[in-house]
Amino acid sequence: MKIMFMLTAALFLSVMLMQHNAVSMEAANESAVKSIVLPAIDSDLKEGAGKDKVATYCNICHSPDYISMQPPFPADKWSAIVHKMIVVFGAPVNEADSRTIIDYLSSNYGTGK
Ligand code: HEC
Repeated sequence: MKIMFMLTAALFLSVMLMQHNAVSMEAANESAVKSIVLPAIDSDLKEGAGKDKVATYCNICHSPDYISMQPPFPADKWSAIVHKMIVVFGAPVNEADSRTIIDYLSSNYGTGK
């Protein structure tokens, strides 16, 4: 009778140990380095002179969809928007580049005025 109890206890212990090993292996896998793939920002800005500046500076805080989803604006409205991005939000765009960007936006997303 005693031997039966010992065998049952040994069997129970080995099952417990196997489970423990399985759990700790899972934990080890969870702590392994994982990688994720981020979607690339697909800038579908229209081709045109100054597109590179817009793609560089107007992509820092938000997607270029903020530009392409706007209705056509006259040049002074684009100028006001670009200056708001610089003055209010701190877009790091110098005066020369801001003129290039305003020209690009007015030509490609403008009303022609
Ligand atoms: C420093 C961060 C930053 C940069 C760089 C930036 N923007 Fe923005 N932009 C914002 C924020 C914040 C908003 C949202 C403003 C709001 O909700 O009123 C915004 C909104 C906009 C909008 C939506 C209309 C509006 O007036 O809110 C347009 C268009 C836009 N940005 C164009 C541009 C262009 C063009 C550039 C490149 C010169 C640019 N942004 C660069 C921060 C930035």
